[in-house]
Parts: sequence; structure tokens; C-alpha cells
Amino acid sequence: MPNWLKDAVFYEIYPQSFYDTNADGIGDLKGITEKLDYVKGLGCNAIWLNPIYDSPFMDAGYDVRDHKKVAARYGNEDDLKALLDKAHSMNMHILLDLVPGHTSDTHPWFQEAKKAKKSEFTNRYIFTNCVWEAPPEYRLMCGICERDGNYLVNYFSSQPALNYGFYEVTHPQWQLPHDHPSAKASAEALKDVMRHWLDFGVDGFRVDMADSLVKNDDEKIATAAIWRDVREMMDKDYPDAALVSEWCNPQRSIKNGGFHMDFYLDHYGNGYSTLFRYLVDGENKSFFCKDGKGDISTFLDEYLVNYERTKDLGYISFMTNNHDMPRGTFYMDDDTIKLSHAMMFTMPGVPFLYYGDELGMRYQTELVSKEGGFSRTGSRTPMQWDSSENLGFSQASADKLYLPVDGNENAPTVENQKNKKGSIYENVTNIIKLRHEIPQLANDSEFELIYGEKNKYPFAYRRGDYAVFVNPSGNDVEISFEEKELERIYTIGNAEFDGKSAKISASSFAIIKTK
Ligand code: NOJ
Repeated sequence: MPNWLKDAVFYEIYPQSFYDTNADGIGDLKGITEKLDYVKGLGCNAIWLNPIYDSPFMDAGYDVRDHKKVAARYGNEDDLKALLDKAHSMNMHILLDLVPGHTSDTHPWFQEAKKAKKSEFTNRYIFTNCVWEAPPEYRLMCGICERDGNYLVNYFSSQPALNYGFYEVTHPQWQLPHDHPSAKASAEALKDVMRHWLDFGVDGFRVDMADSLVKNDDEKIATAAIWRDVREMMDKDYPDAALVSEWCNPQRSIKNGGFHMDFYLDHYGNGYSTLFRYLVDGENKSFFCKDGKGDISTFLDEYLVNYERTKDLGYISFMTNNHDMPRGTFYMDDDTIKLSHAMMFTMPGVPFLYYGDELGMRYQTELVSKEGGFSRTGSRTPMQWDSSENLGFSQASADKLYLPVDGNENAPTVENQKNKKGSIYENVTNIIKLRHEIPQLANDSEFELIYGEKNKYPFAYRRGDYAVFVNPSGNDVEISFEEKELERIYTIGNAEFDGKSAKISASSFAIIKTK
């Protein structure tokens, strides 16, 4: 386990939209290098970069055309090297995004695989044996190649699935078993890509759709085995590099697959969703909502089991948001956002802050889809730095920007939030600072439930000598709590402890030392 994960707090950067240094309207690697001080100033000491590889950008770069080349719009390999060098000199770490499940249909492997003539890439993707074979249970693109067959896609139509074989072979005419040499060759090709960048100096990867490799693998047994093998390679040759999976199943990802971290994703109705983003027939039933109609037990039932079974092996990663979901501001008011951050950054695991969430950036619902973003586009708009042109993101003319900046008169910017009392920025940076200062609030320290009852507030938990209380509802609440408050560490709103009970006012949060 890389030691630096013990104290890691990540910042996710969507590179298109962070900072543009060459006035072409799109963010670039030099821009990220220039803003490293800003990121560090937030308390984030690690970065996840969305894909920066050469791509036709039909899915914002998750459609890789050349795994080993930096997309020209972000700069070149030297720029990446400079970013890594500077980050490392600041004791920061950088993860690239690895897309193992598919490539762009413009990738040279696919161009070869599509041909009628057999080659080393004939089995790199999943083709049926003839064009009239198209079982409806598979997402197939039908009959458009020289080769006689249809191919499986993993996501959008331009993202053919790489062939790691099938766990259960139901159509032996065209499905290879997962231990077939061609399936193994795909896994080796993946490791070759990883080695390339790890040798280059990156600190690991966020892994896209990590559970999508082997098909007909409901329990993900063969898929986890591929990752276990990758983990062995990393432990042996890159012991300081880290992997975080887009999986949302810590037992399969961390325990079986060997991932160091697994994202707690927003899957409607799961623990994460019912905490922060749970709209039921238009009504907000999230736990983090002043309406107070939330139920913490859905989260606890899921989280506690996963946490107990994986806490000695890896980390569950909370995130404020990512590039695939509406921003938190779409669901929560500013008070509630602050409480949600206070909770996420005092839970165990390795937490992730999405760029702009420290400002309370808006989810821009009115935008036309960009590069396959669709409903996700509104969370991918340019970072808001200051009151200058394009809110400081770029010196290009406004019509050249990747996406428009928030045109609201009161749009939050780093400039107008950074020193503002009571801002989301102030709150989240305070909490991250405490996480670094107090080891018992950090990634590895134990977690224990103090109070979490069905349909009730608050949620309270212990981290070592500290007790944390959060009441996002609009009502004051009181629970029995017979420990003494030795020291007040942090408060949002109001909370009182008299050795018998804890009174947590509406929309409030507190950390106290009790031992
Ligand atoms: C998940 C990524 O986060 C998303 O942005 C992408 O479109 C899909 N995987 C496909 O790669």
C-alpha cells in the first residue's frame, strides 16, 4: 500500500476546463502546472486528471485513440513531465485516467480488427462470427465493417469493447473464454500501457469502468482476477503507485481485485445517493436536506459492511461530485453543501474534491451537450478564477471557449470566495486542514457509529478520540450522549454537550474531543 495514501486528499481536474494558458479556449497541462499552488492551498495533495490522451473526443477523451500520446490540445509529453516534476517537488501525486474497457473506434487496434484480413488484432475486440449473428442481449453495432460480424460496444457507439473474454461462454461461435490467449493478450496490452505511464513518472490511475472487462461475469470473478494480476505487477515494480476504481463495490474491487481505493458512486437509491442526491417523485428525500425526510440507515446498512470488510485492505473514496453527475449545488443549498463536505472530509477513506465544488459552482442546466457530455455537460464548465474576462479561465474570446463560463452576476470565483467568511471555500479548506492536522480524523483512523437511526437525525460517529455530529435537517435535535466535551474542534451552526446529551441545532455540525 503506497504510504502517501494515508494522508491523501484528492482534487479531480477536468483538464478541458481548468485553466487555459495559450488562449485557445481549452484548458491545458501548463495551466494545471500553474495552478498547483492553488490546489495545494486547498489542502489537496493529490490530483486525478480525466483522460489527457490523443482522442477524437466523442466522449471527452474516454475514447482513446493513442494510449501513449498526450492530446495536442493539452500540450505534449514535456508539459506532462513538467507537471509531474513540479507536483512531486511539492510532495503532490498525480493519477491519470486509465480506460481499460474500450477504445475509440479510430484506435489503430480497432482499424486492424475491422478488416476482413486476420491480424494480431483480430481478437482484440469482440466481434460476432457473422453479420447475421446479433443476439439482442448484447449491445452490438451491426454490419458496418469489411469484416463479417458485429462488434460489442462498451459505452457510446464509437467505443468498441476490448476483448478480455467471457466468464460464461454462451455463444461459443464467437465468444472466447477469459483464459484464451487472445483475452490474455488484451490484459497484457493494458499492462503495457500502464507500465508506459508509470515509467514516465505518473503516480497511478483512476480506472474507468473497472468492472467492465470480462463479459458474462456477473460475480466479477474473472474481472477481479485481471486486476489482482495488475496489483501484483504494481506491488513488485511500482509499489508507490496507486489505483482507484470506478466500481462502487469495495468487496469486489478492493478485496478481490486489489484496488487501493474504490469510489463511492452515486447510484440512484444507494448509500451515496440517499445521503446527498435522492429525489423521489420530485421530492428531496436525501439525508442532507433541510426538509429532514432523509434516512441515514440506507447508507449505514451498505457502508458499515463494506467498511468492515475492506478497511484493512484499502479505502472507500467519498467524492463531492465528479464529471458525470450534476454538481451538489443542484440538490443542496449552501448550508447543506457545507455540512456534506464536513461529513465527507471527516469520514475514513481517501476523499476527492471535484474542481469548483470548493466554490459552490453551479450545475449549468441550459447547455447543449459537448463531446458526449449530455446531462453531464453542466458540471464540466470552466473553473471560475476571478472577475476578469471569462472569469479568469482563458483569454480567448468568449465564443471560442470549450464551454461557456457561468454568466450569473453572482457567480462564485476563487477571488470572491477565498477570503469570504462563512463561504463553502472557507469551510471545506478548514475541514481538510483539520484532517491533515489530526491523524485520528484522517484516512486510516478507525470509525465507529455513535448514532444513526432510521428516519432520524443527527448522524454521529467517532474517529478515535473525537466525536463528530451532523444534523442537516431544519430541526434542532437532541440525543443522549454521556461523554464530556474536552475540547471543541470545529462547529458549523450550533451544538451543545452537557455530559448527558448532545443538542445539535438545525443545519449544524460539530467535532469535539472526548478523550
Ligand atoms: C465513466 C466515465 O467517468 C465517463 O465520463 C465515461 O463517459 C464513461 N465511463 C465511458 O468511458
